[in-house]
Amino acid sequence: MLNVIDLKASYGKIEALHGISFHVRRGEIVTLIGSNGAGKSTTLKALMRLKPPESPTVTGGDILFNGASILNTESHNVVGKLRMTLVPEGRQIFGNLTVVENLILAAWTNTGDARKDLDYVFGMFPRLAERMRQRSDTLSGGEQQMLAVGRALMSKCSVLLLDEPSMGLAPLLMYDMFRTLKQLNDEGLTIIVVEQNARIALQLADRGYVLDTGEIVAEGTGKSLLQRPEIKAAYLGGA
Ligand SMILES: Nc1ncnc2c1ncn2[C@@H]1O[C@H](COP(=O)(O)OP(=O)(O)OP(=O)(O)O)[C@@H](O)[C@H]1O
Ligand SMILES: [Mg+2]
Repeated sequence: MLNVIDLKASYGKIEALHGISFHVRRGEIVTLIGSNGAGKSTTLKALMRLKPPESPTVTGGDILFNGASILNTESHNVVGKLRMTLVPEGRQIFGNLTVVENLILAAWTNTGDARKDLDYVFGMFPRLAERMRQRSDTLSGGEQQMLAVGRALMSKCSVLLLDEPSMGLAPLLMYDMFRTLKQLNDEGLTIIVVEQNARIALQLADRGYVLDTGEIVAEGTGKSLLQRPEIKAAYLGGA
């Protein structure tokens, strides 16, 4: 479904991705792991075709979606037509709006029954239903993370990109979040998840890629990467 071929991307003169290649099949969960500054968020922003200066300029290679290049696709069409949605680092919800307002706004690409999808999101995250009329900036960090994922679901995406969904979550909530992602995947959603928490990401994912300073240095099934001594040493705290 998604084929990234020798992708190079830069911020101004500084190259952040030095030619990375990976692919994602429909219905898969694929994770990109790596340390700070490896280029994980850069990769997701490039896939979403977001614009500089926050996002990189692609300087080489290609991104194919169902076989066709999306390098010239506008970001709003990536969301609206290709149905690929990003839950960004730092969540980016509208703090001065309520939970339900945030969810309804996110449904702009939703051509189906948004009311039904709202019920679905509230079923998936009962905490959001309880706090429906609460201003979003007064939600806890974990609840805001749920709202960010809920917004992505309201967009009726078929490919969900998540940038560090575990960030700031207590262990129990983090496991809840990953269980929810697994459930969404079981229902057919394709997921690309970027994580610094390599262990939980590799446990969840069908396949993973390890990114190190703008290059892919390892790839394999989630299970096989968890077993590799060099991955254990560098990304799993040696355990
Ligand atoms: N808007 C920007 N302008 C200039 N350089 C940037 C910009 N965003 C990221 N970079 C640089 O690109 C490189 C890759 O950054 P990126 O945000 O993709 O890393 P990351 O793997 O997501 O790291 P983290 O785990 O800390 O979020 C870093 O060296 C970073 O400083
Ligand atoms: Mg990042």
